[in-house]
Amino acid sequence: MKKLINNKAKIGIFDSGLGGLFTMKAIAKELPEYDYVYLGDTKRLPYGSRSHEVIYQFLKEGVDFLFSKDCAIIIVACNTASAEALRQIQKEYLPKAYPDRKVLGMIVPMTEACNEFKNVGLVATGATIASGAYPREFKKRNPKTKIIGLATPLLVPIVESGEKKWIKPVLAEYMKFLKNKKIDALLLGCTHYAIFKKEFSVLLPKGVTIISQDVVVPKKVKNYLSRHKEISDILSFTKHGGKMEFYVTDTTTNFQKMANLWFGKKISIKKVVIE
Ligand code: DGL
Repeated sequence: MKKLINNKAKIGIFDSGLGGLFTMKAIAKELPEYDYVYLGDTKRLPYGSRSHEVIYQFLKEGVDFLFSKDCAIIIVACNTASAEALRQIQKEYLPKAYPDRKVLGMIVPMTEACNEFKNVGLVATGATIASGAYPREFKKRNPKTKIIGLATPLLVPIVESGEKKWIKPVLAEYMKFLKNKKIDALLLGCTHYAIFKKEFSVLLPKGVTIISQDVVVPKKVKNYLSRHKEISDILSFTKHGGKMEFYVTDTTTNFQKMANLWFGKKISIKKVVIE
């Protein structure tokens, strides 16, 4: 295991693809002083239709890569990987392989953000819904909250393809199911859904609060770092803004255009092999 050098460690952001760039942009805006490394496993996207064993293997390889790049902490922006594989990484892999480092996911912070609601709709990939990870977490933290899950597997391919015109009709069809369920909040349980949260909100009854990871997670990461000095003390800290590196496992059609769009500016991305 590579040893971390004090004041040189970075924050890793992992996603199955490029949607996590939208979350990373929000985290880096809240915490600009740190150095970041992004990994999008574009070669193997989508994770949302894969089995537990495969998602665990992919996440493990992503974690190894980001730790080899001197990350002290990794934020798994991918809900599917968080739902299917994070607990096993935290409980079995980290204590053996990286006892001094941390990997955090989306399920806990997003569930905590729903504390005040009674009837929460959840939209996510098929694997996230099938894993039961969100209902399990709700049961632990907000046992009185009812959660109504809906797998929305068509959304990621539409967003990744850049074929925007299909978002509205497909979303409208999906939202029909939630419209009459009297939900007071909708949890967007997927990296990509945050990108078009406005489209969700116009299709839902007025007053439904949208819970989106680009809003929730940056504050949670900040709070976590303030409580975990063993991590924040070894992170690089540059007053005028840290450095950012971006990696993908495949350079797919459109990827540079989509990456720039979701990160909000032109970024330079390198291709890596992590298997
Ligand atoms: N990143 C995934 C998630 O947040 C969506 C894309 C995929 O299916 O891999 O669930």
